[in-house]
Amino acid sequence: MGHSRTQVAIVGAGPSGLLLGQLLYRAGIDALILERQSADHVLGRIRAGVLEQVTMDLLDEAGVGARMHQEGMVHGGFDLLFNGARHRINLARLTGGRHVMVYGQTEMTRDLMAARQGAGLLTVYEAADVTVHDFVSTQPSVRYTKDGETHTVACDFIAGCDGFHGVCRASIPRTVIREYERTYAFGWLGLLSDTPPVHHELIYVNSARGFALCSQRSASRSRYYLQVPLKDSTSQWSDEAFWDELRRRLDADARDQLVTGPSLEKSIAPLRSFVAEPMRVGRLLLAGDAAHIVPPTGAKGLNLAASDVKFLSGALIEFYREGSDAGIESYSERCLRRVWRAERFSWWLTGLMHQFPENGPIGQKLQEAELDYLVHSEPASQALAENYVGLPLGFGGDPIVREGPESN
Ligand code: APR
Ligand code: PHB
Repeated sequence: MGHSRTQVAIVGAGPSGLLLGQLLYRAGIDALILERQSADHVLGRIRAGVLEQVTMDLLDEAGVGARMHQEGMVHGGFDLLFNGARHRINLARLTGGRHVMVYGQTEMTRDLMAARQGAGLLTVYEAADVTVHDFVSTQPSVRYTKDGETHTVACDFIAGCDGFHGVCRASIPRTVIREYERTYAFGWLGLLSDTPPVHHELIYVNSARGFALCSQRSASRSRYYLQVPLKDSTSQWSDEAFWDELRRRLDADARDQLVTGPSLEKSIAPLRSFVAEPMRVGRLLLAGDAAHIVPPTGAKGLNLAASDVKFLSGALIEFYREGSDAGIESYSERCLRRVWRAERFSWWLTGLMHQFPENGPIGQKLQEAELDYLVHSEPASQALAENYVGLPLGFGGDPIVREGPESN
């Protein structure tokens, strides 16, 4: 049985855990990462890749932004397709020059893993039976098994970066944590292919046959999604059936432009809205999917994970440099304000773009009316655009500063 010590024990080597590890390393704080899966398994997961400025900045701060700037694609807008016609949301114009970066989460994870390895930092992959202990004290610890041997690691803090199905949130007594959840009756069937994207920007599709999304990973790799019933399985969806159904949901132009090819990956992801409150109990701090899930419409998941990690790394650095636990104390509240805004946005965009059979034909008509309003009203387009590019980190927490004399 091995005993060791670290300052911060990080559970989970997804984007949250890896990014936190890198930021702590650069601040001279010692951290150990425990990951249940192998590195290859972690890299095999295909997930959204639309980065907000906050996320780009944090990758730079962590010293891992170079390839993202080189290979990522700057998108100043996207299309909304409804009622058979496409309308562009000009993000740059509507937000005063802001944009998003399309860069796959897999690539970002790869960059973070390479940086960690390059710095000679320890990630224990295939760590089994991870358990977390005494986090409501100043001497927490984590335990795990590797190659049949049990290890105990004493630490100052535990960062729960272990995703929705992780052990950290599950270890918090039900009496101190409250969970809010909504599940949806449909999923996203995703297909990855080495074909040029149908359009240079993303197309979000509302059709009477269900939602579709045309996304991309590079000039030669595409990612497409179809709304499908949750009970469907990928074995029911041949590549041909996928492409046929996608074509039916597109407009005539896109149908003509669409280049099809064999799938490299196909999977069905369920949709969920979920928040656990609070995000800190004692010295256990949750970040990313461990604390909250958004449906993928609008691609907020990764960006929320990044903003949690921004607050968490800041709080830990403040603790070790200044001996202050102010950042630790306010961590949950600061994260949750941004989390709930992103939850609201993702829930709204999901509701606007998908088919809900229980709403009947009037549901479709009302969605089309809202979309029509959205693309033709400047304030409505602006509200969509500012949420899509990402709300500022401190938004809403600061007192309102009015110019000129105070008026009541
Ligand atoms: N012990 C150790 N590791 C664990 C355990 C456990 N008991 N349970 C889960 N893990 C690992 C998982 O194998 C996974 O690699 O924790 C990691 C969590 O990573 P993610 O699920 O990617 O979560 P996070 O890092 O918060 O990233 C959020 O992922 O789902 C997307 O939309 C989301 O893009 C966002 C991002
Ligand atoms: C993706 O490329 O996987 C993607 C893009 C945008 C979204 C969701 C997923 O809103």
